[in-house]
Amino acid sequence: MREVPAPFDGLAYDGHLVWDRFTRVFHWGLVACVSTALVSGFLLDASWIRLHLVSGSLAIALVTARTVWGFTGPTYARFSQFLPSYRQAISHLRAGAAHARHIGHNPLAALMVFVLLTLIVGLGLTGVASLGSGLKSGPMAASLPASQGHIWSKIHELAAFALLSFIALHIGGVVLESRRSRENLARSMINGRKEMRAGDLTAPPRPAQRALAALFISGLVIIATGAINRMSQSPLPLPPVGSMALVYSDECAACHMAYHPSLRPAASWQLMMDKLDSHFGEDATLPKETGDEITVWLVKHSAETVDSKPATLWTGLQETLPVALPNTDIWQRLHGSLADGTFTRRTIHSRSNCFACHRDAESGWFSPFQISVPKEPKQ
Ligand code: HEC
Ligand code: HEC
Repeated sequence: MREVPAPFDGLAYDGHLVWDRFTRVFHWGLVACVSTALVSGFLLDASWIRLHLVSGSLAIALVTARTVWGFTGPTYARFSQFLPSYRQAISHLRAGAAHARHIGHNPLAALMVFVLLTLIVGLGLTGVASLGSGLKSGPMAASLPASQGHIWSKIHELAAFALLSFIALHIGGVVLESRRSRENLARSMINGRKEMRAGDLTAPPRPAQRALAALFISGLVIIATGAINRMSQSPLPLPPVGSMALVYSDECAACHMAYHPSLRPAASWQLMMDKLDSHFGEDATLPKETGDEITVWLVKHSAETVDSKPATLWTGLQETLPVALPNTDIWQRLHGSLADGTFTRRTIHSRSNCFACHRDAESGWFSPFQISVPKEPKQ
């Protein structure tokens, strides 16, 4: 770190280029991606998952590219120029306005950069873990059980709250430091320029290694595109259900959709099949042999045997009389964002008509990628 000698070393007053173009594009690109990911994660319902995945993946791609640039970029983009130091950060905080001005990141800002980058990487990893466990998609689908889905998405959510808090601190810091140094720091992240003053702390110039960076970053782009593609693919197939599924559809899907056997635990199917004569106000009695065959098949493929989110959700279902899933707390919590009127639309009829909104309902998946709530048809 050098001090600019007074009088000033000849660089024009209208600004010294501090933030190179890549760093600026990275910064504002990250603002856009992270805001989109936060809004789609916190405020929009699960059917926006694709937007969430794409914005989140782009944020990770940007952070990774920035990391490459941190080792290959020009002077103030290099991590070595602003290695975080807790001691320096504290002394910067204490020094107040008396502190010499840093042309690059000041020690507090440096700490902030690393915290933000680390949190975003953490969000990427826990996001991939939630996707893999809960939704059985993406690179971790095969290695994490659906029963861990809930815990991963909680950790992911906590990390997102932490990121929000640090973003607020970061904006607060920029406002304070801008006032303290009487220079609009947000603007310098747009045009890249900062006014150079006597006594400022600068770093010896280092050229960017553009060819090396380009090589790394194009590799990254290829990997990132592949990863985004893989994540939005349909989940792993559920275990095959065999030809009995046809008999089941014939006998049990006359009045409603064929509910996948993995939606209920074995005991629940047993109970339902024992009480077919009073089946939700209907008589659905079957010849004994067919009924027994279907029962055996339903029990064999029940919730306990399947690693999927819906199976995990309802595997603990306890009943004395058969309950429709929309009457369970779990179902109501998942569908809390839908207005009551939605379910009376002629295209939907009933809450139990899962297939109306979940295109993959018959497969047992209920993936958020496959949700689309039909509109009321025009007269
Ligand atoms: C005569 C018509 C009829 C037949 C046949 C019938 N059901 Fe039903 N079932 C209903 C009605 C009505 C409901 C209440 C849900 C609704 O409003 O759609 C229902 C509800 C269900 C539910 C609960 C849905 C939920 O939301 O969780 C399951 C599971 C079910 N039936 C399974 C079966 C099985 C298995 C068979 C074949 C043995 C069968 N049904 C045959 C009329 C029928
Ligand atoms: C009117 C349309 C509609 C009907 C009918 C419906 N759902 Fe949903 N379901 C949704 C919407 C929309 C969401 C996302 C809600 C949110 O995230 O706030 C959802 C979410 C879910 C989820 C969580 C998906 C995830 O991974 O986040 C499950 C599981 C689910 N529904 C199961 C069912 C079952 C089982 C039925 C039938 C018994 C059913 N749904 C009927 C619209 C519907």
